[in-house]
Order: sequence, then structure tokens, then C-alpha cells
Amino acid sequence: MTTLALHGSSIEIAPGALATLGARVAELHPGKRVAVIADQTVAQHYGAKALASIVASGLTFGSTVGGTVAPGVFTFPAGEQHKTRETWAKLTDQLIAAGHRRDSVFIALGGGVTGDLVGFVAATYLRGVPFVQLPTSLTAMIDAAIGGKTGVDTVAGKNLVGAFHQPSLVLIDPRLLRTLPPQHLRQGLAEAIKHGVITDASYFAWIAASLSDILDGDIDDATAMRLVQRSVEIKVGVVAQDERESAIRKILNFGHTIGHAIEHVTGYGVPHGDAVAIGMVVEATLAERLGIASAGLADTIATVCDAAGLPVRLPDGISPAEIVVATRSDKKTRGGVVEYALPSQLGVMAAADTDYGVAVPEPAVLQTLQDL
Ligand SMILES: NC(=O)c1ccc[n+]([C@@H]2O[C@H](COP(=O)([O-])OP(=O)(O)OC[C@H]3O[C@@H](n4cnc5c(N)ncnc54)[C@H](O)[C@@H]3O)[C@@H](O)[C@H]2O)c1
Ligand SMILES: [Zn+2]
Repeated sequence: MTTLALHGSSIEIAPGALATLGARVAELHPGKRVAVIADQTVAQHYGAKALASIVASGLTFGSTVGGTVAPGVFTFPAGEQHKTRETWAKLTDQLIAAGHRRDSVFIALGGGVTGDLVGFVAATYLRGVPFVQLPTSLTAMIDAAIGGKTGVDTVAGKNLVGAFHQPSLVLIDPRLLRTLPPQHLRQGLAEAIKHGVITDASYFAWIAASLSDILDGDIDDATAMRLVQRSVEIKVGVVAQDERESAIRKILNFGHTIGHAIEHVTGYGVPHGDAVAIGMVVEATLAERLGIASAGLADTIATVCDAAGLPVRLPDGISPAEIVVATRSDKKTRGGVVEYALPSQLGVMAAADTDYGVAVPEPAVLQTLQDL
């Protein structure tokens, strides 16, 4: 087992950790009432195991005037389209009806959608109750569950309504990756590859060498543990230095300025990890052309992303000019010019002296996109 700490959260990683959920929650929140919240898919896979562990720990599930509430999982339909204020409203109504009060702790059992949604429910429920993350997708284990960002989407865009709310515990069981469909595993892998590029060349090389073990549909404990643990260490290491995204946390944005623009112009038709993979290749090429990165870096990243089954070229029908326009809505600008987080070599990010932001003129971005 590996344990890390971040802004009051304990982050614990161990194969088989799901079975210890009840015991850990009972230790951290003795006597509290528990609500387990999951999407319907994850509830089918892991709901019963989570409940059994909580029952065994002696914790209870809520109470109404009619008596105690039987063990159960609060569920909502799986998918990003349900990460909304409407689902937030339904869940909060159900939790109130089940008698949850200030002495409750909510457990987010699921992928990033569940973590973001349940975190936001917990942040707002009676002005804030504690919550625990039990992430089940690779994206959630190494990214969404770490850092305290919670929220929901609106018709105007993703994550527009939310709050910072740190979980008391992030309990990660890498064994749960065995049931995660490969297309979702790949989405998380894009972020793991990014972690290698921004801080750790040897981790990048290990991922490249381990892709077949990771993606063979039956990932072993040692491989899953190493993949998750190193990525979590990297994200925690960066976020610990910079909770609210002013300086070094920007390096986590590598691949995301172009990636977000791709998601935007396709109306989120390209999944996030796919968009980040393309974005990393575009941005690394940009870094090479600006003389910031050594030659060959973009090719190295493209080779690994491609082997992971991630796209590395803009999808057909998207014009480079549209992408450039879409980058203007990026939050990170310096004097009206969009800032990029760019690598100088594998494992090293450029521009540490200017808070890791490189202001790149639009013609350079356009030219790079046209040439790729
Ligand atoms: N808060 C943050 O800092 C942060 C960071 C990155 C991403 N996110 C958010 O995370 C979300 C994406 O996360 P995601 O990719 O996990 O999406 P998700 O939660 O929708 O999970 C993907 C799919 O996999 C299924 N699934 C999850 N775990 C499973 C398992 N172990 N076995 C079988 N099926 C499983 C889910 O039911 C779902 O259908 C986005 O909403 C994004 O905005 C947040
Ligand atoms: Zn991302």
C-alpha cells in the first residue's frame, strides 16, 4: 500500500482496497451515516462489494422517521451527459429523503463523472459534508479524484458550475481497472503519458514498454499499481505546490490548450483523452519549432500515443483556423496572447522562470496545425 497526503486528503493506493472501504471510513468518520453514490454501470460491478464492506464496519446508511434505511446505492445513469445540475438536484432530494444530515459522509464510487458530481453534491449539501473518493476509472484514479475540483456541466460548457472541496480520503484500488472498457482505459492513459512527458522520462519509457500489459484486458496487480501510483505521485507533487493553479500546476495543462480547442470545435465529439493526445503532439511540435524542445520529441510522444490506440492527428473536417480561434477562450492568456505549457525535453517543462507559461503568437500555432 502507498499513502500520500494532499490538502487534508489521505490518498491510499492498494490492490484490493475496495474491501477496506468500510473500515477506513469508520476510522476517519466514526459514527457517521454513509451514502454510497455511483452510476448504474459501476453500481452493478462494485455496489454490492462497497455496501458489504460498509455493513461489516458497523456504519449505517441514513435514517427516517420510519426507522433506519436499508443498505443501498444511490444511482444515476452513466455518462458525461448526466453530470448536470438536474442529476445534482435529484441526488440531493433523494439524500434529504433518506435522512442524511450534517453527520453524513458521501462516497463517490465511480469514474470522473461520479467524482465531480458527488464532490459537488457534498460541497453544497447543508453547506458542505465530508466525502470520500473511490475512483474506478484510470482517469478518476490519476486525475479527477486528486486535487479537490468538483462540479457539473451546463449547456454552455463543461464544468461551469462547481466548487473546490477536498475529499477526506481517496481510496484507490488499481485492481478495478480490470473491468474498465479499453476505450476508457485509453482516455486515462493519455493523462498518464502526459505525466511522463511533464516530469518523468523513465515513467514515460516504462508506459511505452508496458502498453501491451496495460491494454490486454487483464492488467495484473503489479502493472496496475505502478501505473496508478507513479501518476498519482506526479499529480499530487504538482498540485501540492500550487492548489489554485497559478504557476507550476500549469504544467498539467500540457496538450490541453489545443486539446480543449478540439473538444470545443467538435462539440465534445472527440473524447478528452483523444483530444489531449492530439494536443500533446501539436504542442510538442510547436515547442520544437519555437526552438524550445529538442528535435524528435513530438515524434516520440506520437509513437507512444499511437501504440496506445490514441489519435495523433486532427480529425478530418476540422480547419486549423477554427482551432486557433477556439484557443482564444482558454483561461490562460498573457497580454491577450494564449499561453502554452511546453516541454523542453522528455520529463522537463520549459519556462520555469515565467511560471511555465509560454505566450505563443497565433501565426505559429496556425502554421504548425497546417503542416501536421
Ligand atoms: N475534477 C478534476 O480535476 C477532473 C480531472 C479530469 C477529469 N475530470 C472529469 O472526469 C470525467 C471523465 O472521467 P471518466 O473518463 O472516468 O468518465 P466516467 O465517470 O463517465 O467513466 C467512464 C465510463 O466507464 C465506466 N466505468 C468506470 N469505472 C469502471 C470500472 N472499473 N469498470 C467498468 N466500467 C467502469 C463508467 O460507468 C462510464 O460509463 C469528466 O467529466 C471530466 O470533466 C475531472
Ligand atoms: Zn485532461
